[in-house]
Amino acid sequence: MKVDVLLGLQWGDEGKGKVVDVLTPKYDVITRFQGGPNAGHTLEFNNIKHVLHNIPSGIFHTDKMNIIGNGVVLDPISFKQEVDELEAKGMDLTKNLCISKKAHLILPTHRILDAASEASKGKTKIGSTLKGIGPTYMDKTGRNGLRVGDILDNFEQKYNELKKKHQQLLSMYNFAYNIDEFEAGLKEGIECLKKFTIIDSEHSINNYIKENKSVLAEGAQGTLLDIDFGSYPFVTSSNTICAGACTGMGVAPNKIGEVYGIFKAYCTRVGSGPFPTELEDETGEALRKAGHEFGATTGRPRRCGWLDLVALKYSVMINGVTQLIMTKGDVLSAFETIKVATAYKIKGVETVEFPFELPEDMEVVYTELPGWKEDLTGMKTENEFPKELNNYISYLEKELEVPIKIISVGPDRDQTIIRH
Ligand code: GTP
Repeated sequence: MKVDVLLGLQWGDEGKGKVVDVLTPKYDVITRFQGGPNAGHTLEFNNIKHVLHNIPSGIFHTDKMNIIGNGVVLDPISFKQEVDELEAKGMDLTKNLCISKKAHLILPTHRILDAASEASKGKTKIGSTLKGIGPTYMDKTGRNGLRVGDILDNFEQKYNELKKKHQQLLSMYNFAYNIDEFEAGLKEGIECLKKFTIIDSEHSINNYIKENKSVLAEGAQGTLLDIDFGSYPFVTSSNTICAGACTGMGVAPNKIGEVYGIFKAYCTRVGSGPFPTELEDETGEALRKAGHEFGATTGRPRRCGWLDLVALKYSVMINGVTQLIMTKGDVLSAFETIKVATAYKIKGVETVEFPFELPEDMEVVYTELPGWKEDLTGMKTENEFPKELNNYISYLEKELEVPIKIISVGPDRDQTIIRH
């Protein structure tokens, strides 16, 4: 058996949570391999909305094992809140959630460092979610970090030593903070983590592969936020791409099977950073309204724009996508025409390759396709699709050279059309 990977091809919020939940019945094990509580996977079924931040989206299927892999950074405080919320719904997570010993811990002082660093950037701030994720990954590469395995032995002493280092660093910023406020809930968070089975997840996952169990690795954020290939520096602190699934779980590249790439039928972005196809007009507003484009974690309005094929082709290439999944096609209903970016013009030179930088004065070359008026949300098969939607799908498949296998036409599990 191989590990299938599911990831976002844009700037996150593509609807990964919903699709993982739909695909989960096919798998025995669901893993998270990077990122932290900045992820906000929204799942909706039986008219109830659930938002997951740290926990893999397979958790609602009690017969599936869920693993938080070594590439994830975990905040014990927010983790406990998430566990409490799910337990209040009657779930017992200790049976089907395991955590890697090697996942790094987000500590209260990481959150303070995040806030101090972002405040020091003034106008050039990168739009951090202030959850301490960047400073935690910095401690990981700086070889200072504490890992989940560290809670099992002498944690308090290790924490106090690292906290001292952080406080020295913080003294260089002119930033006021109340340590007690940030530390509230830490002890309880650590105790909560101890309720779970803490494992050498690389061994467990490879053993599952050997035992012919199917594994789905669930990405967070999106390819254009990847630390190496995204629109740097307006990116997240981890590798969100398929290669990140190998390092974030300890799985060799030749053990990767299908790579599901999820994209919205248009584009959104939260926070600062370049966004070539952004619509700052009434069309953008209409997309935001129709798509309810407000962040699941932060509530921030998302910036909206047309689909960007230059960026999407880049994401397909970097990830080796084998199957595409298009979400939110229903949101495009009622637009007279739909635009798709096919090239960028930078300093007068046209390019179809995603460039090193996306300058503010760049131009975008668009193709315009006819829209459709029909409401897609009640459709159950692709035979019901209007011809303009079929035309949109065929156009994208031809350009991206990868089949679009699943079309999502609404937030619910049932609003998912598998194409054959
Ligand atoms: P991140 O890892 O934070 O990037 O999250 P995500 O990719 O899981 O996406 P998120 O849940 O933040 O946003 C997707 C939103 O769109 C959620 O509210 C979903 O319920 C909703 N959604 C998913 N698919 C569809 C769809 O096909 N149509 C509509 N209208 N909504 C959808």
